[in-house]
Order: sequence, then structure tokens, then C-alpha cells
Amino acid sequence: MEKLYIPVLAGTTREQRKSIFAARLVAEIGNTFEEIETEVVDPKDFYFPGDGNDPEGKDPRYTAVTERAQGFFIVSPEYNHSFPGTLKRMLDSELKNYIHKPVAFAGVSSGQWGGVRAIEQLVGTVREMGMVSTFSDMQFPKVNELFNDEGELQNEAVRKYIEKAWVELLWMTKVLKAGRDNEPSSHHPS
Ligand SMILES: Cc1cc2nc3c(=O)[nH]c(=O)nc-3n(C[C@H](O)[C@H](O)[C@H](O)COP(=O)(O)O)c2cc1C
Repeated sequence: MEKLYIPVLAGTTREQRKSIFAARLVAEIGNTFEEIETEVVDPKDFYFPGDGNDPEGKDPRYTAVTERAQGFFIVSPEYNHSFPGTLKRMLDSELKNYIHKPVAFAGVSSGQWGGVRAIEQLVGTVREMGMVSTFSDMQFPKVNELFNDEGELQNEAVRKYIEKAWVELLWMTKVLKAGRDNEPSSHHPS
């Protein structure tokens, strides 16, 4: 059985970033599912010159990731009630590779709301890119308490919420893949 490749997109490149701990945990749990292959896609590893999605504004390695992906799990910190510009820049660099693919969200914050406002902002953005949002969001509030300085989880209870988000994303991934494979659309070959 070929696994479904569903990368976890991290949201920021900040040196002291804590949301990367959440992204790594989400990927670790995703890989416990027999049907899923995942990894953290770290914006630090890519380079996107300028703006937009013209050929010269893409990073071919990110293009390859999005081409192969059957779905996405975005783990984003909340910056000024939105998501970071770095994440927007990375997302903006592609378009057709997102169409009719599902996306789940996890928000991360040092405060008590767990990045819900970043997720709300992301929903409108990904919709314009042709993605389909799940409704089982995951929040990581008070991230400084949830993970220690080594990135180790301090509250095992959050694992079950991450699993729940993956279960929903997996279902959506299968359904939309079946749709893309079997139902003709001008947006992708079927
Ligand atoms: C530029 C900037 C803006 C931020 N704005 C918010 C915010 O609006 N709401 C919030 O809860 N936390 C905010 N934070 C704090 C983040 O929640 C905190 O840094 C957390 O660790 C997640 O982001 P990180 O991955 O960059 O560490 C902000 C942090 C930065 C660097």
C-alpha cells in the first residue's frame, strides 16, 4: 500500500521559535498512522526570491513537496493576530499544486488562545488557493509550558487531540484523492 504523503508545514524561521516543537510533534504523531507519510517542511530550508508564484519566485524543492503532497497540515504561530509573513510567502509561491487538496491547522501561541486567530486568517487564504479546510483544529496555547527548552512535551494529554486532527485530515485526504483521481476537472488531470 502506497502511503499518503501529507507534509507538515511549519510557519516561521525565527531563531528562538517554539512552534517548531509543535510541528515536530504533529509530524511524529502523523507517522504513527499506517497510511500516512509525513515530515516537517521548514521554511528555513527554502529560498523564495521576491514575491508571487512566477517561476523565478519559486523554490523547486518546495514545488516538488507540494506536487507530491496529497494534503497538508499547517502548524503556525500567531503573529499580531495573524500568521507569519514567512508562511504566507511560502504558500504564495505555489498555486495549482494545492487545488482540491485538504489542509488541517494547528495554532501555536505563548498566550492562552493557542493561535486561533492565526487559523481564522489562514482559512480565507487557503480557500483562495483551492485547498479544502478540515474542521478539527489543534491549539497549542502557552507553548512555553507545553514544551521544555529541549522541545519535549510536558503534557501528554495533547497527543489525543493531534491524533483526532490527523484522523479527520486522513479522511479528507482519501476522499479528495478519490475525487481528483476519478472526477474530471479542468484544474488537474484525472
Ligand atoms: C512578531 C510576533 C508577534 C506575535 N503576536 C502574537 C499574537 O498576536 N498573539 C499571541 O498569542 N502571541 C503572539 N506572539 C507570541 C507567540 O505566540 C510566541 O512567540 C510563540 O512562542 C509562538 O511563536 P514562535 O514559534 O515564533 O515561538 C507573537 C510573537 C512574535 C515574534
